[in-house]
Amino acid sequence: EKGGYEHFMLKEIYEQPRSIRDCMRGRIYPQQGKVQLGGLKEYADKLKNVDRIIIVACGTSWHAGLVGEYLIEEYARVPVEVEYASEFRYRNPIITEKDVVIAISQSGETADTMAAIELAKEKGATIFGICNVVGASIPRTTHAGVYTHAGPEIGVASTKAFTAQVSVLTLIAFYIAQQRGTIARNKLIEYLTELNEIPELVEKALKANDHIQTIAAKFKDSRNCLFLGRGSSFPVALEGALKLKEISYIHAEGYPAAEMKHGPIALIDEEMPVVVIATKHSSYEKVISNIQEVKARGGKIIAVVTEGDTEVRNMADYIMEIPQTAEPFVPLLATIPLQLLSYHIAVMRGCNVDQPRNLAKSVTVE
Ligand code: M6R
Repeated sequence: EKGGYEHFMLKEIYEQPRSIRDCMRGRIYPQQGKVQLGGLKEYADKLKNVDRIIIVACGTSWHAGLVGEYLIEEYARVPVEVEYASEFRYRNPIITEKDVVIAISQSGETADTMAAIELAKEKGATIFGICNVVGASIPRTTHAGVYTHAGPEIGVASTKAFTAQVSVLTLIAFYIAQQRGTIARNKLIEYLTELNEIPELVEKALKANDHIQTIAAKFKDSRNCLFLGRGSSFPVALEGALKLKEISYIHAEGYPAAEMKHGPIALIDEEMPVVVIATKHSSYEKVISNIQEVKARGGKIIAVVTEGDTEVRNMADYIMEIPQTAEPFVPLLATIPLQLLSYHIAVMRGCNVDQPRNLAKSVTVE
């Protein structure tokens, strides 16, 4: 049932070109510059006039929510707050009937997320779900929603469910932008055409697997690891760190690259690998300065770069290339090498990657 792969996690990493495709099927019309989300249709007017969106989730799903925040604010121009479900529900949050709450959950059974939904519902908010498991408790409780259609995810470490959540959030951002008229039709045609190519680009990114395995071999005995990114690559860095810590038990932290100088830089020495997302997009030059700060202190840089990049290649100790893409889709591609890196490190350390210690696939306790 692992389809010839050694672990479910690897199988699920490799399923992503298909799962992202499935997630977009029937929802995007690139030539017409149109996004259609059947599940949200009844709420099109509500979204057109919404003042604020609150995203609630836990773990990897919370990271997807942070990517969603960047996309919705950038393209739909609606303020977004992203909350850990467990914090949200215990602090008397300010919610009204005008609010739209989006709950993200792979399993659709996470107790904290469920409790946050109940609370927001009591206060009269409109609740949407982004779930993977059809008919689970969360999609049954929400007013409406969009399924991710990633297929069953068996590995405890979330991989294809994350990229499917990010895909759905990308669609939701464009959908709201379309309702509100905050994106030009031409731009939407351009972006949707590019989004339609993402499954092939993910396929291409997966081809770096053998190279990433050789990098993993160099860092398998590390005790700590930092992950840095800016903009929408910051949540990707957080997700990279979570993946590494949960399956390899190496202590890892994700930080916004510019925050490094406010504290974590004290940790940098020859023993400290720093994984940096340094693709050729808006904060490229800034990230290069952050790489120089790490190098000046003897840190080892593993950089995720845009294919063909030479500037970062000359500075970094190791590079992992991803294909060129438009800015909104970077999270979908930059996630791939980080998943593979964690996977190989964990396997080399003899860890049980599909069922890491102390973890369960769905957390049904609060
Ligand atoms: O099923 P959910 O998406 O609600 O689960 C939330 C978290 O427990 C989950 O994302 C967890 O962080 C992942 N297993 C990490 O890989």
